[in-house]
Amino acid sequence: MKLLESINVGNITLKNRVMFPPLTTGYEGRDGSITTQSISFYERLAKGGVSYIVIGDVSPINSFSPTPKLYDDSQIIGFNKLCDSIHKHDCDAINNLFTSGDMKAVREKLHHDMKHFVNEVSEDALNDIINKMCNCAIRAQKAGVDIIQIHGDRLVGSLCSTILNKRNDKFGGTLENRTRFALQLVKSLKKAVPGMPIDYKFSVVTPERGKCGIDLNEAPIFAKWLEEAGVDMLHIAQANHTGNMADTIPPMGIQPYGFFVDIAAQIKKEVNIPVSTVGRIFNPKMAESILEADKVDIIGLGRTLLTDPDWVNKVKDNKFEDIRQCISCNKGCTDNIQNRKFLSCVLNAENGYEETRKITKAITKKKVVVVGGGPAGLEAARVASLKGHDVILFDENTSLGGQLNLACIPPRKNEIKRAIKFLTHSVCSQNVDLRLGKKVTQKDLLTLNPDAVLVAVGASNVIPNINGSNNPIVCDSWKILNGEQQVFGNIAVIGGGMVGCEVAEYLCSESKNKVSIIEMDNSIAKGESNTILPTLMNNFTKHNVKIYTNHKVNEIHKDYILCENDNNEIKIPCDYVVMAIGARPNEFDVDKLLENNIKVVKIGDCKDKASDIENAIKTAYDAANEI
Ligand SMILES: Cc1cc2nc3c(=O)[nH]c(=O)nc-3n(C[C@H](O)[C@H](O)[C@H](O)COP(=O)(O)O)c2cc1C
Ligand code: SF4
Repeated sequence: MKLLESINVGNITLKNRVMFPPLTTGYEGRDGSITTQSISFYERLAKGGVSYIVIGDVSPINSFSPTPKLYDDSQIIGFNKLCDSIHKHDCDAINNLFTSGDMKAVREKLHHDMKHFVNEVSEDALNDIINKMCNCAIRAQKAGVDIIQIHGDRLVGSLCSTILNKRNDKFGGTLENRTRFALQLVKSLKKAVPGMPIDYKFSVVTPERGKCGIDLNEAPIFAKWLEEAGVDMLHIAQANHTGNMADTIPPMGIQPYGFFVDIAAQIKKEVNIPVSTVGRIFNPKMAESILEADKVDIIGLGRTLLTDPDWVNKVKDNKFEDIRQCISCNKGCTDNIQNRKFLSCVLNAENGYEETRKITKAITKKKVVVVGGGPAGLEAARVASLKGHDVILFDENTSLGGQLNLACIPPRKNEIKRAIKFLTHSVCSQNVDLRLGKKVTQKDLLTLNPDAVLVAVGASNVIPNINGSNNPIVCDSWKILNGEQQVFGNIAVIGGGMVGCEVAEYLCSESKNKVSIIEMDNSIAKGESNTILPTLMNNFTKHNVKIYTNHKVNEIHKDYILCENDNNEIKIPCDYVVMAIGARPNEFDVDKLLENNIKVVKIGDCKDKASDIENAIKTAYDAANEI
């Protein structure tokens, strides 16, 4: 396969065509130091077979951004340990050098998109920044870093940008002036670290999105200039700094798969150096077809490798089906970084916890019964069987996946099916004894005489006891999603949480429906990713969904509901009411199991309170791994 072929970059041979792009991880210390968490994460990626790893956003100055820092010689040792752990697995390390030009005087004015800084920074300060970046590159080389990547976003991209750069001096105006800093930086780095290949994160501003990079129509010329200046490789990606992370890190269903491949292909035609790209590539067949079509030379996998760091090794072993594919939910990765937490994938319990979570073979083989075939049950069965236990899984339904089968129905959510497919494939291929279509009882379990029972019976949608809730117009949001109940016309969705919003979006996509959301709280869609929220709200506006926040429903009548808002009584007409106020854990009796000294652990939604897929996967993984 082309994916597994080596490729030369400068004086380095990369062992294959798969790379990990720059990602802020949040694993570093507050002072930007490399921690054991960073080392464990990057080493795990290297072990999975990727040819090189870009260490995201390494700062050459003591900036306030939460990224790794290499502005002082004392920091070399941390990077050295990191490089050693990556090199151990025959993988190359790249430092992604970025600078936001963090000078105290302009710090207050520094907008998210840098629009003040880029226009105010003096030529002397720019030269100073180049010096600092060169010194950082020298330190990186001493630490054992193989390649330097210039971050063509941030300051470099702002200077290139026709949107952000309003300067009248030699750094503004013409393309030559706007790219002067970038090209000077390349030339200075070539002198500072001779022989070290230079990669350039080539951020492109497309007519649709992005601010902080080069315009698409200018990109081919700039790419050629970079090559002439000595750049050895281009990493072509969507330019950032629009205030909407969804532009560069698109969540499910918003951008097409491989959304930057064709743009990268246009630029590749103009240069003779290797080109990589990134963005919504999950599937090895698709990745291979991109290389076969000669659109790019190297495939970048960001979130895909968080979900499954063994992607390359599984491709090598021809085990495509075994790959756990990212679902572009942005929950554990992007949302966490935005909320100042660290990267952790909702589907891969080990991501971010590489030091502490590892599946170890059990010393004694045990009989483990899992009750429930939703995400928690499936993950528990997967982990328990990988440990070498005999695993039996019961589900009262004849299909697996539990609530994920509902979660994938609303608009754009279809990509969740990749999670169902992976978990189902795992239990089937690992020979878990599946007993479907059977509601299991304690008596059945006692007959099996298991060593451990993992209870994963999930949760159920709550129908609150409101005056009139037994009216035939009242429906259950889960049943609407699974097709068991149908509604039309004027529909009031009660509850503006995630399920309420999703069911409202599902219902408003039928143009004849008129949908309202009634929420007690002061806002809807709490907990939704910032990368998804704008699309959701636009859809509500487009389909005239009426949103009533701070409204408490007191009564349901056959053609209206009575709500209370600020001590006023509000009447909202409707043909149907759809209940989406939340879910409650399902019960499962375990007293007899405990009396018989059988280990019982509740996992997922039935454990304490109904929660999300991350809780399902992590509680299941931990419980199964402890057996
Ligand atoms: C959590 C997260 C943090 C990221 N941080 C950075 C960053 O610091 N610098 C950067 O250039 N790109 C960053 N990116 C963008 C990635 O490099 C990549 O372009 C993007 O995730 C799309 O690729 P994917 O679909 O394979 O994940 C980040 C992406 C994610 C998911
Ligand atoms: S949290 Fe979601 S988007 Fe992020 S890597 Fe995991 S599956 Fe992909």
